[in-house]
Amino acid sequence: MRTVRTVAELRALLLPDRRAGRRIGLVPTMGALHDGHLSLLRRAAAETEVVVLSLFVNPTQFDEASDLAAYPRDEAADAALAEHAGCTVLFAPSVHEVYPDGFCTIVTVDGPLTGTLEGAHRGAEHFQGVATVVTKLLNMVGPDVAFFGQKDAQQALVIRRLVRDLDIPARIEVCPTVREADGLARSSRNVRLHGEDRDRALALRAALRAAEDAVAGGERDAAAVRDAARAAMTPFSVDPEYLAVVDPDTLVPRTAIDGDTLVAVAARVGEVRLIDNTLIPSP
Ligand code: PAJ
Repeated sequence: MRTVRTVAELRALLLPDRRAGRRIGLVPTMGALHDGHLSLLRRAAAETEVVVLSLFVNPTQFDEASDLAAYPRDEAADAALAEHAGCTVLFAPSVHEVYPDGFCTIVTVDGPLTGTLEGAHRGAEHFQGVATVVTKLLNMVGPDVAFFGQKDAQQALVIRRLVRDLDIPARIEVCPTVREADGLARSSRNVRLHGEDRDRALALRAALRAAEDAVAGGERDAAAVRDAARAAMTPFSVDPEYLAVVDPDTLVPRTAIDGDTLVAVAARVGEVRLIDNTLIPSP
């Protein structure tokens, strides 16, 4: 595995592969790699000959300075894990390399895809930060395929939209959410869950399970499904920031469970903000 820190080095390194027609895969991450990230890398390694992992804690997508400051960083550990999972190129640019002096171009994915859920709660800047950095990473690497996680379902939709709208010639693949044995979705922020907060974090998975069970039990009223999910969080003393029952392509709230349905939840547990979701197939 090679580690590069500048766009010029990256392009020079990838040029022979591109000329030889080798397929290039990109897995964008902010590091603190866990099994969720590694599943994306393994999928990339299975589908493409050259696997680029980008490791960049993107300051423009953080809406809280404390979250950015507390974001876990360990490049040496990440490099070892990435190489083991099949990464061939680690791209770890500095903030200045990504945002040079005078930087002033913002990619905005407008409309309902970003105006709801994470966008509504974290502010419009969050998805502008994500859209801008992902557009840049796709331009820097020029991958044939880029891999994202269903864990961040709204982010994946936003990226699919921008790739279509800006004619970026990369295929976007969305991979399933990887969980801990007890169901907690893997997240770089989980290491900040201490003591009983680690148990309370299971409230999100419990809510999603309750929604799945309600639909499996024949419930077709979206408000009732939402209520069942909400009730499942009460024993954990965790209040959702949002708990939404929506169309998985448009994120428009559902009134009836009459098609594939995404149930998405966000909640603060202790000092950590967590998100999770489940895709319930059309009954
Ligand atoms: P990060 O949170 O590091 O996540 C990198 C990728 O890993 C994203 O596509 C995310 O959806 C995926 N991922 C995270 N947890 C996962 C899990 N438990 N199972 C499966 N996939 C998981 O998302 C970002 O970084 C940033 O917003 C980024 C796209 C890199 C732009 O800065």
